Amino acid sequence: MGKFLLMLTFLSFFLLTTYKAWSQQQEPQVPCLFIFGDSLVDNGNNNGILTLARANYMPYGLDFPQGATGRFTNGRTFVDILAQLLGFPNYIPPYARVRGRALLRGANYASGAAGIRDETGNNLGDHMPMNQQVGNFGRSVEELRRLFRGDNSTLNAYLSKCILYSGLGSNDYLNNYFMTDYYSTHSQYTPQEYASALLQDYCQQLSLGGRKVIVAAIGQIGCIPYQLARYDGNGSRCNEEINDAIQLFNSGLKKLVIHFNKVLPGAKFVFLDSFESSKDLVLNAKTYGFEVVDKGCCGVGRNNGQITCLPLQQPCEDRSKYIFWDAFHPTEVANILLAKKSYTSKSKTFNYPINIQQLARL
Ligand SMILES: *[C@@H]1O[C@H](CO)[C@@H](O)[C@H](O)[C@H]1NC(C)=O
Ligand SMILES: *[C@@H]1O[C@H](CO)[C@@H](O)[C@H](O)[C@H]1NC(C)=O
Repeated sequence: MGKFLLMLTFLSFFLLTTYKAWSQQQEPQVPCLFIFGDSLVDNGNNNGILTLARANYMPYGLDFPQGATGRFTNGRTFVDILAQLLGFPNYIPPYARVRGRALLRGANYASGAAGIRDETGNNLGDHMPMNQQVGNFGRSVEELRRLFRGDNSTLNAYLSKCILYSGLGSNDYLNNYFMTDYYSTHSQYTPQEYASALLQDYCQQLSLGGRKVIVAAIGQIGCIPYQLARYDGNGSRCNEEINDAIQLFNSGLKKLVIHFNKVLPGAKFVFLDSFESSKDLVLNAKTYGFEVVDKGCCGVGRNNGQITCLPLQQPCEDRSKYIFWDAFHPTEVANILLAKKSYTSKSKTFNYPINIQQLARL
């Protein structure tokens, strides 16, 4: 009898400690994560939409447990890894599919080909531009308000602990400003004027009432395989005209973040310098174990960069040796490095004024 009781005590102690470890492990550092963006972070919102900007076919998702989900890479995206670093038990679901209580963990509104401007990406078909993503976020907040039974102060306290992530702008250049046979913006605006116009719209869109907001800059898109294949007939030179134009946008975006931090008391905006971090991947490629920095692992044409990865196409053998999965998007390995850097790096070159780990703890 005594032995039995002792065993029972041990057993319940064991169950309690494992439960505690498990529940601690399952509790994320922030209650929810809401994501705005383009194909770099889309996780399936474009699947039901008529567009060329879709990735719900193999070999996209080759290294993702659920296969081709609509993610524009071979495995996890930047925000998938970010969600894991923040301790979320699951990836943040795409808005197209999330309903009810699952919304408490957040939603991903990102849509391939999307931009800050509504017309951006129309050359590829339908998608959800940032204005629509912001509208969908508003709908989510209303659904959460019903879940909170109209208790605004509890809802607002809850939302104030969440992280909002936004990464847009690449398509406003690639699938708008620098696509001159389809769009007229290049003849209407100088690069400086265009950056200012984008930032003016983005400033409005980012006024979401969020208290913890991450804003990602545009990466070094003058150096993606797509540009390397197009530019100058030379496979190894970046398109510096594009890099120069986006740097105008990026430096204005950083100023906007500094401005928000000044005028919105209680709010903290973090600027991720994706240009610097993507440049760092290329410059220190060897250190990171990359062997190929200028070609997509999957694609067609020069540098595998002229046409994106096609259905059932054979990709490169060793994905971990490539920075780029296709003509536009990083491999999972590159995404892991970028996400970890934004989460932990104390360098203000990459994360300004603090990193994501510090933001989560505020
Ligand atoms: C809660 O906020 C919503 C939206 O701002 C508003 O329509 C509603 O009247 C508020 N409810 C209460 C009880 O204050
Ligand atoms: C491509 O550019 C690199 C660097 O500017 C240069 O060294 C190389 O000769 C060029 N190749 C061709 C084929 O033009």
